[in-house]
Amino acid sequence: MRQLIRGRTLSFHADPAETENAFTFHEDGAIITRDGLIEAVGDYAALRDPDLTEINHRPHLILPGFIDTHIHFPQVQVIASWGAQLLDWLNTYTFPEESRFGQQGHAPAMAEHFLDLLLAHGTTTAAAFCSVHPQSAEALFAAAGSRNMAMVAGKVMMDRNAPPAVLDTPQQGYDDSKALIEKWHRHGRQRYAITPRFAITSTPEQLAMTGQLAREYPDCHIQTHLSENRDEIAYTLSLYPGARDYLDIYESHGLLGERLLLGHSIHLEPREIARMAETRSRAIFCPTSNLFLGSGLFDEAGLRAAGVPTGIATDVGGGTSYSMLQTLNEGYKILQLRGQKLHPFAAFHWATRGNARALGLEDEIGTLAPGTMADLVVLDSRATPAMALRMARAETLAEELFILQILGDDRAIAQTYVAGQPMLDRNRKAA
Ligand code: GUN
Ligand code: ZN
Repeated sequence: MRQLIRGRTLSFHADPAETENAFTFHEDGAIITRDGLIEAVGDYAALRDPDLTEINHRPHLILPGFIDTHIHFPQVQVIASWGAQLLDWLNTYTFPEESRFGQQGHAPAMAEHFLDLLLAHGTTTAAAFCSVHPQSAEALFAAAGSRNMAMVAGKVMMDRNAPPAVLDTPQQGYDDSKALIEKWHRHGRQRYAITPRFAITSTPEQLAMTGQLAREYPDCHIQTHLSENRDEIAYTLSLYPGARDYLDIYESHGLLGERLLLGHSIHLEPREIARMAETRSRAIFCPTSNLFLGSGLFDEAGLRAAGVPTGIATDVGGGTSYSMLQTLNEGYKILQLRGQKLHPFAAFHWATRGNARALGLEDEIGTLAPGTMADLVVLDSRATPAMALRMARAETLAEELFILQILGDDRAIAQTYVAGQPMLDRNRKAA
């Protein structure tokens, strides 16, 4: 099936922080999709074809769908829980809620809500933590597969320091993860992430098992948490007294490398930063979560200067919005507090191609390059009265993007396409 989608197209082919000529923009642009892939992108005048079905999104912008590199699927009913920092928040709200995912029928129902929410916010791919129960990952992969969405996901492995209803054992966690990898990894668009929750909830025996999985399946992602909050770091180091630092716990179990996604990565030692750069391990910035849980301020410029690759993510339900626009908004403010700047071009690059690169998936998603999947977001810069009023004064594309970044949320998502299919109905609910 071929179709032409018309709009103001914007795609990054390089990092705007590194080069001036980083993107291609067509004011009257078009994308031709064929069987879920982008076949061509360019000026509408050059691509128009009377034989093609045409969908006209002008004056809206069309970008590659947003990518969220760190989110917790079983926390859809944890988001907006009051008054705690990380460790209390986990014990008070999160672990009890995640225990419900062991109940029959709960995970499949929540998986549909979760994917509806992602699409309503313009997110077409996420790296998602599931609960400890294999059926949570099973449910998410099945639901994503039926929508043809590319998910990176894994059941969390955790065998201590949490209630029994959310614990596995080193052997069970290994066996369940392995069975899920065999069934779902590279099944359609699905990819498995080996997911030790973090060092506090994994014994050394369990981390040894995650290292074994990582060796057996070197093209699986690995996702975990690193140095989010000071109390977490102190407790972690008390549990691993032989470790040189927090990162060393993961390093000594063979987990570092370009497939490793390290959520938060805030309070880092110089040695940790150097090792992350050398091994190309990814630091994932979670701005709304870091502010909500009072965790700390991510050092984007410092990590960039050191050569650490980064991604940006919502971290729902520690994070407070599914919107990558709102995530960029809070990210801008965190960098302000550090005396750093997040330019709108850098911001939109980060949420699309930058995050695709963080996941190693830039050949499939994150740009409008021909041959990649037609996962798209259509953005309405005048979605609210406040945005429309401000847009009346906007003169440049950068200004327009910044208005979306600061004032935009799910109301600014006019449509989301997955593999060329529109996923939202006219009320912007997942269709
Ligand atoms: N560290 C370990 N688990 C979690 C979690 O669920 N959310 C956040 N923000 N940090 C974590
Ligand atoms: Zn997290």
